[in-house]
Amino acid sequence: MKEKIQEKFRTLFGEEGELFASAGRINLIGEHTDYNGGYVFPGAIDKGIIAAIKINGTDKVKAYSLDYDEYVEFGLNEEDKPNQAWACYIFGVCRETIKRGGKVAGFNTVFAGDVPLGAGLSSSAALESTFAFALNYLFQNGIDKFELAKIGQSTEHNYCGVKCGIMDQFASIFGKEGSLIRLNCKTMEYKYFPFNPAGYKLVLIDSCVKHELASSAYNKRRASCENAAAAIRKNHPEVEFLSDAKRVWLDEVREEIPEEDFLRAEYVIGEVQRVLDVCDALERGDFETVGEMMYQTHFGMSRLYEVSCEELDFLNKLARKMDVTGSRVMGGGFGGCTINLVKDELYEPFVKTAVAEFTAKFGHAPKVYDVVISDGARKL
Ligand code: GLA
Repeated sequence: MKEKIQEKFRTLFGEEGELFASAGRINLIGEHTDYNGGYVFPGAIDKGIIAAIKINGTDKVKAYSLDYDEYVEFGLNEEDKPNQAWACYIFGVCRETIKRGGKVAGFNTVFAGDVPLGAGLSSSAALESTFAFALNYLFQNGIDKFELAKIGQSTEHNYCGVKCGIMDQFASIFGKEGSLIRLNCKTMEYKYFPFNPAGYKLVLIDSCVKHELASSAYNKRRASCENAAAAIRKNHPEVEFLSDAKRVWLDEVREEIPEEDFLRAEYVIGEVQRVLDVCDALERGDFETVGEMMYQTHFGMSRLYEVSCEELDFLNKLARKMDVTGSRVMGGGFGGCTINLVKDELYEPFVKTAVAEFTAKFGHAPKVYDVVISDGARKL
């Protein structure tokens, strides 16, 4: 990929650029908890974005996406927002860097990626983090890593219409080979957990289903949680985020909030606790408990949070039937992947059966990705 990128860079700009990279992510457990001030447990993966970049001495960004085979030029003022969605991510990162007092001037770039789009692996966070990291390096802005992650998050909020939490950009910036990261999204305290589950594999099964309106449904989930938290706060002023609430406090407001908001909140409060339980279980090497928690998360995401879909429920049920240790829908939901914790000896039969049965039922084959926990944003 690097060679192809530099080759195109030479063709377009007559020289080579400096290379930067960042990663997509998986999340073992802790879904839709980040914007509720709870815990998440992600890691960066060996699929990501690579960009060649060089400052060009003008006030324009000249950007080429190899994957879309598309060239776009844009300025750096608020009114210069490009029309292409992929270019908006880069533009947003430039704007958010500038808003934080960083310097950004014109540059040339060619980039490509191998994070499957719409699979729930955060290809957009990989793109944002690559550019947030690279611009910080090239313009010597000295912005710290937390703020680089927030530049990506604010790009989603202000230029892409998704009111996402911090998990994806955090994982993409802070990712470390071989480790998952438990992050407290309220305090931003984090801890690396080496993850070498001897005797098990993590595998993703991609339903290849992408739901339209996923971002508006996502924003709606977030609004439900905020509504539930506000109701609880009236009785318990210490509740800043939904993750601060005890389950019994939610029961107190059951009649005051819509049933839908109650179910969403019930899921989130359970999920925050499950992350802690999984971390404890991992420290004991107790993968059976880890797996059981993953099934509980799937149940909650499917029935209470309602972000699963028929295809993902099918994959989850099949995993259970085949005695796979853990399985659940991963990421925001509304399509994408299941993440599965599978004993080594079950790996092949599971993958084979999942592909065959899914294809027979839905008429298209799912994709299968082995998870390799890797480094996040970096200069190559
Ligand atoms: C998306 C968002 C994240 C997080 C997950 C669900 O990936 O970008 O912030 O909320 O969904 O856990």
